[in-house]
Amino acid sequence: MASERQFRLRTKFVATRNVKEYRATIPVWVNQDDVVLEVGCEWGTTTALLAERCREVIGTDISPECIERARKLHPGLRFELMDAFDVRAALDLGKQFTKIYIDVSGFSGYRSLLDVISLLTMYATVLRPEAIVVKSGALKHFVSLCTPWGRSEGDER
Ligand SMILES: C[S@@+](CC[C@H](N)C(=O)[O-])C[C@H]1O[C@@H](n2cnc3c(N)ncnc32)[C@H](O)[C@@H]1O
Repeated sequence: MASERQFRLRTKFVATRNVKEYRATIPVWVNQDDVVLEVGCEWGTTTALLAERCREVIGTDISPECIERARKLHPGLRFELMDAFDVRAALDLGKQFTKIYIDVSGFSGYRSLLDVISLLTMYATVLRPEAIVVKSGALKHFVSLCTPWGRSEGDER
């Protein structure tokens, strides 16, 4: 059961539907002090856009071919092989990430919603970034249907 003393996440989550929205968040959410992790960087296109706005960025992907290509295309940036679900590997990168970008294939379907929420909770709990931006049409749709119940609406218990 949830209680007042229960650990509370302070990370903000930003749900985007497609890559255009995912990249459009960068000028709004990323600043020059940020240390950013991108999970699912493919060839590093978004990682390079993040690099223009932040202090440091690391792009990661599960595919060795993608990482090899990203390193060739962006020789000045750091890319590492990593499975998104191996949060220990993310911790072992040894950085205090302030923002995390997640764009892992297969997160758009309705059935993937629980996976997205588990992954977000895992990264928020272990790495404690200020914000996580995720590309997931399923999550964006779900949150658009949610309304937090608040005091102004009579929740005075
Ligand atoms: C749509 S692409 C990412 C595009 C990239 N973020 C961009 O903006 O250019 C999705 C990537 O997720 C990677 N991926 C899929 N499953 C993964 C996992 N479990 N861990 C890490 N990366 C994964 C794929 O290899 C692929 O490169």
